[in-house]
Amino acid sequence: MSSHDEVLATIRQQIDNEPDATGAMTIAVGTLKKAMTHYSWVGIYLLDGNELVLGPFEGKPSPHTHIPLGRGICGAAAAEKATIIVDDVNADPRYLACSVDTQSEIVVPILKGSDVLGEIDIDSDRRAAFGAADKKMLEAVAALLAERMTPTLSA
Ligand code: SME
Repeated sequence: MSSHDEVLATIRQQIDNEPDATGAMTIAVGTLKKAMTHYSWVGIYLLDGNELVLGPFEGKPSPHTHIPLGRGICGAAAAEKATIIVDDVNADPRYLACSVDTQSEIVVPILKGSDVLGEIDIDSDRRAAFGAADKKMLEAVAALLAERMTPTLSA
């Protein structure tokens, strides 16, 4: 198993008995930050109306606690409902700086059907730190969180 698979399996196991969405998000953020050494800042933004509001995070406090839809790489990923990887944030005009040390970023929407509930945002101090394995793992984590972020309907 690759380390990405192992980290996903760990998160799945840890949140298995955590029905609370905020609890599950906090666990996922903590495990990702600890397990992936090149993840310098890990956070989850939650969609509230037309704004992304910062929820659980690990790393330096971000100046961007509220991001309007369509602003920043975070807003773009929510608007496009698709994962965005930026290899060099300083070359992307959409980028809203969180830390001067950040070089690359991945933003993964948390989707329920076609509704955006929030997103996982990760910064790295390394250029081009994120690839297909990160995207696959983080999209799986987002799906696990989405399951807990809206009530399960039962017949
Ligand atoms: N870089 C993000 C803003 C959030 S901070 O990275 C935590 C963006 O461009 O949307």
